[in-house]
Amino acid sequence: MTNSMVASHAKWPAKADAIFAIAGKAQEAIKKHGKENVTNSTLGALMDDNGKLIAFDSVFGTLKAMPNEKISAYAPIAGMPQYLEASVETLFAGYKPDAHIRAVATPGGSGALKIAMWNYTDLGDEILTSDWYWSPYKTISEEAGRHIKTFKLFTEDGHFNVADFKEKFKEILNRQDRIMAILNTPAQNPTGYSISDDEWDEILAFVKEEAKNPEKKIVLLVDTAYIDFAGEKDEKRAFFSKFSNLPNNIFTMVAYSTSKGYTMYGLRLGAIIGISSNEEIADEFNIAALHSGRANWSNGNRGAMLVVSEIYNNKDLLAQYTTEKDEWKGILRRRAEAFVEAAKEVDLELLPYRDGFFVSLPCDNPYEISDALTEKNIFMVPLAKGVRFAVCAVSEEKCRKAPKVIKEVMDQLK
Ligand SMILES: Cc1ncc(COP(=O)(O)O)c(C=O)c1O
Repeated sequence: MTNSMVASHAKWPAKADAIFAIAGKAQEAIKKHGKENVTNSTLGALMDDNGKLIAFDSVFGTLKAMPNEKISAYAPIAGMPQYLEASVETLFAGYKPDAHIRAVATPGGSGALKIAMWNYTDLGDEILTSDWYWSPYKTISEEAGRHIKTFKLFTEDGHFNVADFKEKFKEILNRQDRIMAILNTPAQNPTGYSISDDEWDEILAFVKEEAKNPEKKIVLLVDTAYIDFAGEKDEKRAFFSKFSNLPNNIFTMVAYSTSKGYTMYGLRLGAIIGISSNEEIADEFNIAALHSGRANWSNGNRGAMLVVSEIYNNKDLLAQYTTEKDEWKGILRRRAEAFVEAAKEVDLELLPYRDGFFVSLPCDNPYEISDALTEKNIFMVPLAKGVRFAVCAVSEEKCRKAPKVIKEVMDQLK
């Protein structure tokens, strides 16, 4: 008799989620040794210096002040129009592309990624992303019968590796008539890298050249999950205006999330935003995204949508929210700077950090290093090519202390 009942496409190896597994160990260590003696840099959420989750008062005050029936009702499948307007305007700020733009609400950025991958690639297609990437890209693509292929994110001198991007992109385009490239920027997870405006120019000049072949369909998917914690003011949004007037066979999507920017992780709200020079292509996107919404989750979190639109439309509330967010953006930057400086002092190699929640360290034996560090009460997530330190979750003081210990452990295990 068989001990399996799932359909053949739903059979996956049982493996514990690496992040939640190590986060669990960190919690045990905290119980045993006290939180002041443990550096828990595992989870990608903003925490205060004592490890308590930050949840903005402006956001949750607004939600809790809402009449129950406003939160409880169904939202339209597309999302509430005032939410879609608020999210698009807030995301692009002064850099809205000159193009036809459509938006459909999703459960978080994850839902947006799912809609994009499902509707803009074919069964068996290869999807291109960088060798350092957020592992759910693989989970989402695999579930749909697509495969992730990678290019090297960095050059030897720590810049975006445009040459390798081009090479791998061309290889895929030789095999397929459509290609999707996922770029997680600014403030990439796990490296903290942000593609510069000049690098964007190079990327777009290249894809425009490739798009001269009318048989090819090029899809860019920009994952902006951490954009609210990148750069000063809106400078890290300037690249959006480069998506203006692109040829019809380049379709751009932005996976938008309110998880980090509004600290609404568990409320599950995001949007998939489609950008095209061609109105029919934009409308076609809207139809496909709506169909996927209905097929997968029906509709989104109405209360969360109203929070985003109220913050956008109420000047005082917006000011309160901006103050809270900017305060935490500053704390995050100081923590990251402390970590980067301390790493420099002890000659600990880091990947080029620019913005955001994480710093990553390359190494050949990530699991061994992560394991050995738990003995020193430092908890970091092992990745395929290194280990990740979540500055978002660790006090500035601990960020300053950790690199020396990490360096010692890495040297011992060389
Ligand atoms: C790179 C990246 N993209 C997208 C997301 C989507 O997050 P959510 O579905 O919570 O909005 C995350 C969350 O951790 C992420 O790290």
